[in-house]
Amino acid sequence: MLFLPQSYKPVFSLQEFCNFDCFSPKLLSITIMENVENVYFTQNPNELLLQFIPEYEKNKVFILVDENTREHCLPKLQALSGESCNIIEIKSGESHKNFDTLQFIWRQLSALGANRKSLFINLGGGVIGDMGGMAASLYKRGMTFINIPTTLLAQVDASVGGKLAVDFDGLKNEIGLFRNPEKVLICTDFLKTLDIRELVSGYVEMIKHAVIHDSTHWNNIKKFSPYNIQWDLMLHNIQHSVKIKQYFVTKDPQEKNIRKALNFGHTIGHAIESYSFSTSTPLLHGEAVAIGIVCELYLSNIKNGFPLKDMLEIIEVINQHFHVFEYGYKDYDKIIELMSHDKKNEADRINFTLLSKIGKFDIDQFCSKSEIYESLSFYKQINK
Ligand SMILES: NC(=O)c1ccc[n+]([C@@H]2O[C@H](COP(=O)([O-])OP(=O)(O)OC[C@H]3O[C@@H](n4cnc5c(N)ncnc54)[C@H](O)[C@@H]3O)[C@@H](O)[C@H]2O)c1
Ligand SMILES: [Zn+2]
Repeated sequence: MLFLPQSYKPVFSLQEFCNFDCFSPKLLSITIMENVENVYFTQNPNELLLQFIPEYEKNKVFILVDENTREHCLPKLQALSGESCNIIEIKSGESHKNFDTLQFIWRQLSALGANRKSLFINLGGGVIGDMGGMAASLYKRGMTFINIPTTLLAQVDASVGGKLAVDFDGLKNEIGLFRNPEKVLICTDFLKTLDIRELVSGYVEMIKHAVIHDSTHWNNIKKFSPYNIQWDLMLHNIQHSVKIKQYFVTKDPQEKNIRKALNFGHTIGHAIESYSFSTSTPLLHGEAVAIGIVCELYLSNIKNGFPLKDMLEIIEVINQHFHVFEYGYKDYDKIIELMSHDKKNEADRINFTLLSKIGKFDIDQFCSKSEIYESLSFYKQINK
């Protein structure tokens, strides 16, 4: 029996707060309020960079890449090939999102003569954005940085909102800070060289934005196929997704209340992601969040009355795109222990954002250990 309606009190209904139109899929500057990112959608990032860079050139420009974005993305940005532009290359992947790499970046900046007025550009996915943003924010007490996200996940999520972090002692994003980039430049052309697995991982954050915000966006994105992308539509959906994220981070930059909606799927997702690093099949961020969404939909259903029909539809879409991730009953305690390190927790209680329907969420929901066990079992059962 999955549906056990209970009385509950919704904390926020987003529909009451937010009612906006879609963006025009053209070059667009979103300036929502002071100190919140400017996000530019462009098919010509060079043109924009040529406007931004000159004021920094005498103090040098530093571009953080990994081996993949150096090969596939940097050549598309001739504006970054001038004498004052310095490339810093790190190794790709979550396993390098740590203090060793941060120190490497700082040493490079120091050796190459960076000062506080230099410009730092993150050209890459969420790992480059999170870690490069942190490196820039702390170097000489902070240099300006621009994000040029090159994965779907970074375009719709990681590059907006100012959360910067590295992993520490096996815990995701354990050490970090909030600081916004000066600008974010989004160009969907970069996504054309992205691995399908990475593309689908980013799609999960679009699912999250849709289910916490509105059923129209969900209906638009649920037919996504990574093998048959219509780029105009994709751009439109990315813009809509960014707009949803911007809404939450603008209302609540420090994640004191409404921004917690963005954590849907992430309480269990982050723990599964960290847990997967100790297995022979480490998951990508979005892959782990997809499992988190399934488990937290289950919790939403049993605790907050999320409709069974919608839950099954969302799970069906998720299952079309992902392989099953195996974990045993004996691993539950380890996964819950990882959840207890989550920054959203209060005292000893594990904090969730749950849904009561698509577009309606309740923050600060607490689940018992046995409810969390059930949700982990639910994922196993539906994937038998
Ligand atoms: N700050 C936030 O708000 C936030 C939100 C969500 C996720 N994140 C973080 O983002 C990270 C995951 O980001 P990700 O999914 O972008 O992974 P990633 O940064 O590891 O990039 C994925 C892979 O794609 C390669 N790549 C990047 N762009 C490419 C391109 N255009 N063509 C070919 N290859 C390319 C990279 O080299 C890497 O191998 C996690 O660390 C997660 O914690 C942060
Ligand atoms: Zn995420």
